[in-house]
Amino acid sequence: MIVAADDRAIAEAARRLAEGELVAFPTETVYGLGADAANARAVARVFEAKGRPRFNPLINHAHESGPLRAEVAFDARAETLAEAFWPGPLTLVLPKRDDARGASLTHAGLPYMSVRVPAHPVARDLLAAFAEIGSGLVAAPSANRSMHLSPTAAEHVVASLGAAAPFVLNGGRTGVGVESTIVDLTAGTPRILRPGGVAREAIEALLGPCGAPAPGEAPMAPGMLARHYAPRRPMRLDALTPREDEGYLAFGPEPAGGRLLLNLSPSRDLVEAAANLFDHLHRLENADIVGIAVAPIPETGLGAAIVDRLRRGAAP
Ligand code: TXA
Ligand code: MG
Repeated sequence: MIVAADDRAIAEAARRLAEGELVAFPTETVYGLGADAANARAVARVFEAKGRPRFNPLINHAHESGPLRAEVAFDARAETLAEAFWPGPLTLVLPKRDDARGASLTHAGLPYMSVRVPAHPVARDLLAAFAEIGSGLVAAPSANRSMHLSPTAAEHVVASLGAAAPFVLNGGRTGVGVESTIVDLTAGTPRILRPGGVAREAIEALLGPCGAPAPGEAPMAPGMLARHYAPRRPMRLDALTPREDEGYLAFGPEPAGGRLLLNLSPSRDLVEAAANLFDHLHRLENADIVGIAVAPIPETGLGAAIVDRLRRGAAP
């Protein structure tokens, strides 16, 4: 449903976000498919709507830097870039705070999160309205199906997402038309992970020379994050029962035995399972067990992304 982005529609969109629904909205770069970043089920629905075969970390948006400062630790370089380019087409990847409200699914269970303050007036009004009644943090990838082009008009969102297109706030064509520049500030030298609306030269003028992903390294895909997927405990998939000293990640019926059982979804709901995935894995990886046995999970819909994450965790 495409709706002209007047005050009433923006208030309605904020209310929908607070209720865990998805809202597509214009930013100055491309349209985003937004969910309350603090609501894991809402975030799971974003992946479902996009048909993404894996859980990429999502960008957290807010109308000003305040709510983002509660999520990640800004260093001097982040302050410099935020001062120079926010609101605007720049995304910063920074270390996550322990008490961050963003759901683990939003950042794919990683110890860092990406944050941005968009400049588009509709995006800012929506985010400000949502900060009044909710977390004020919106996780939003581009509002297209996986592998499709990023949408620069409301009609593109509907054309790409089809029946999965939610409430779409129409703010006309986006001005920048390419995605935000992503700067990784989690390591020593800043790295530009994705070129975008802010030029590399403009960033280097402030921070000095920046790196780039190594050749052959998938720039933003979780592939570059491979080290974070290494399990702290051996994991075996398609297990019907746990051994005595194993933990068990259940999906549906719960077997007896094992030392710690966590259920992704007792009712076999894949949206619920995706919402629980990273929290459960984190608890299992830190538990006093020798390994993790994982129940069979269907590879349909969100199940494909869930199994992708588990397979990479189980790989030697
Ligand atoms: O302009 C934009 O950035 C748009 C608008 C809606 O803000 N958003 C956007 O999101 O392009 P998306 O999800 O389509 O692309 C974001 C990219 C993904 O490739 C993701 O893997 C990467 O950024 N990314 C997000 N958070 C990250 C993180 N914590 N670490 C590394 N890469 C990250
Ligand atoms: Mg995208």
